[in-house]
Amino acid sequence: MSGGGHLADVWFRATGLEVVEGSGCTVRTSDGGEYLDFTSGIAVTSTGHCHPEVVAAIQAQAARFIHAQVNCYRHPLLRSLADGLAAITPNEVDTFFFTNSGAEATEAAVKLARQATGRPHVVVFEGSFHGRTAQTMAMTTSKAIYRAGHAPLPSGVFVSSFPHALRWSCDPDAAVERALTDFDRLLRTQTEPAEVAAVVIEPVLGEGGYLPAPTAFLQGLQARCAASGMLFVVDEVQTGFGRTGTMFAAEQAGLAPDILVMAKGLASGFPMAAIGARAELMARWPTGSHGGTYGGNPIGCAAALATIGVLSAPGFLEHVRERGDQLRAGLVHLASDHPEILDVRGPGLMVGVELTDAAIATALVDACRQDGHLLLMTAGVEGNVVRWMPPLVVTEEEMDRALEVFGGALRDLRAFAAVHANGVAS
Ligand SMILES: Cc1ncc(COP(=O)(O)O)c(C=O)c1O
Repeated sequence: MSGGGHLADVWFRATGLEVVEGSGCTVRTSDGGEYLDFTSGIAVTSTGHCHPEVVAAIQAQAARFIHAQVNCYRHPLLRSLADGLAAITPNEVDTFFFTNSGAEATEAAVKLARQATGRPHVVVFEGSFHGRTAQTMAMTTSKAIYRAGHAPLPSGVFVSSFPHALRWSCDPDAAVERALTDFDRLLRTQTEPAEVAAVVIEPVLGEGGYLPAPTAFLQGLQARCAASGMLFVVDEVQTGFGRTGTMFAAEQAGLAPDILVMAKGLASGFPMAAIGARAELMARWPTGSHGGTYGGNPIGCAAALATIGVLSAPGFLEHVRERGDQLRAGLVHLASDHPEILDVRGPGLMVGVELTDAAIATALVDACRQDGHLLLMTAGVEGNVVRWMPPLVVTEEEMDRALEVFGGALRDLRAFAAVHANGVAS
């Protein structure tokens, strides 16, 4: 699909829609259409489009200060946001650096890890997506297109296997054992632990197919990191801020990350990202060795504080878990009648439906948009996963409607396949 006019064509376009406004789970198009947006702009607008408290905070801050550059002077919301994050992130994490995007935050985590340990290497996992800067491209293995034609990439990145019981046709415990064995072998054969600054993992693979890392795997990695001084970096760019039903996915696995990477849901769509670490670790990052013109932007901080306020309201995360249960139950019910669904998985409102092949996943997403005005996206190394990432404020009725549309698309697809199989249509 072409960008058109003076716009670069480099952006992949999942739809041809032109949107003019959004509220809650709904976006409206320039031709008067209305769509249920279960993409959340790729898991970003967790509080819904234009949540009134976030809009009010942005408007008020815009009238006070748009750009208060952090090297030139400090504005009060920097400290407020650091305090706010310290209150909701896993215990050990209490000191924060702000930047603008998930890739920049992940790259900042690597820079901190290298400075703090004096070691050069990074270990990541198959199917990972960490961003599109040179360093994070080198750490991304979910699809070759993100790297192709951009070589040479930075060196020093090693890729270990991610447990995938379904693909490996084994039970989840065996998958964990195999992946940890692979990790240990990598450290014996490719890079010694003493050369590894950071082990970087998404607790649920995002772009790689909404595939949760089993708790035993995450804890096994964390223990190995602690034993040999590799820093355990948890990329919660997509899983953070309530997406998985707790504020951070690390909580569910009982993790204490050395560095926590945050973006997407942090500021409801205002470009804002952060890394957090314990004060002692952050203090090993020499002053002036990293920074950026826009990091800690006052409007971004205001949007983030308002977002944290919404997510922290009593009952909010319970609502996320309930809607997630509703979604998984509906999808499991559909799976019982549709063998093309291989798996329904994922915590909270980060749910993946793995299908037998990519063409089916794409056809379903297209049919949901065209016939049911429901926006979904695909994911996965093979492109055969439909990912569900609605705004966390989604209502029970909106979820029912989305499930109804998806069920209809599955039935239509079956009817279409039957007609073709019988040779009725040309
Ligand atoms: C887990 C993860 N890390 C990093 C990134 C990169 O974030 P950004 O696109 O804001 O640079 C993404 C984006 O999808 C992501 O899902």
